[in-house]
Amino acid sequence: MILAPSILSADFGRLAEEVSRAERGGAGMVHADVMDGHFVPNLTLGPAVVRALRRATSLPIDAHLMIENADRYLDGFIDAGASWISLHVEALPHLQRALAHLRGRGVRAGVAVNPSTPLSSLDEVLPELDYVLVMSVNPGFGGQSFLPASLDKVRRLAATIRQRGLRTQIEVDGGVDAANVRALVDAGAEILVAGSAVFGQGDPEAAVRRLVEAAR
Ligand code: DX5
Ligand code: ZN
Repeated sequence: MILAPSILSADFGRLAEEVSRAERGGAGMVHADVMDGHFVPNLTLGPAVVRALRRATSLPIDAHLMIENADRYLDGFIDAGASWISLHVEALPHLQRALAHLRGRGVRAGVAVNPSTPLSSLDEVLPELDYVLVMSVNPGFGGQSFLPASLDKVRRLAATIRQRGLRTQIEVDGGVDAANVRALVDAGAEILVAGSAVFGQGDPEAAVRRLVEAAR
C-alpha cells in the first residue's frame, strides 16, 4: 500500500516543509492535482510547481491531470519531474496515443475515471495502463466526502484486472481517511491519495502515520 498525500490541501507557502513532514510519516508518493478551470471548476498548479516539488523530495511525483488537451502538456510535466501521470478518460478523445507517449517516455501511465464514468470505458486501454485512478469524489476540490459507491467500483475493477491476468494497480482519490482506508485496501486499492486527512490537521507526519496504520 502506498499513501500519496495530495498537496492540494497543503500550505503552498511552505510546500517543501509540508512534503518533508509527510515523507517522514511514511508517505510513498506525492500527489499533485493539476486543474485548468475548464475540465473542473478550479485552478491549481502547473509544471513549475512540480519542478519545485522535485527539488523538495525524493518521493515519486504523481501528476493527476484534470485538464483538457492534456496531450499538449505531457512533456512539460515529465520534464519537470513527474514519474506517474494520470489522464481523465472523460477529457481526452485520443487517449491511447497519449498513453503510448507516456510509456515511451518511461513514465507510469494511468487513467482516471470520474464517479459517474463506467469502468467499461477502460475496456480497450486497460492492458496499456500501469494504474487506474478511481475518483471517489467529483474532481475539483479537496475536503469532499467519500462517495460510498466507490468501494464496490474498486472491487469490480480489481476482479476485472485479475480475470484479465493484468498487473494494473488501483489508486483511489477523494475523501480517503482513517475510517475508509482499510476497506479500500481490502477491496483492492494499492495507492491511496489523501489531501485533507494529511494536511490541514496540524501535523502531517502524524496524520500519514495514522493513515498507514489504519490501512494495516
Ligand atoms: C480532487 C483531487 C484530490 C483531492 C483529495 O479533485 O483529485 O486529489 O485533493 O483531497 P481529499 O483527500 O481532501 O478529498
Ligand atoms: Zn487527485
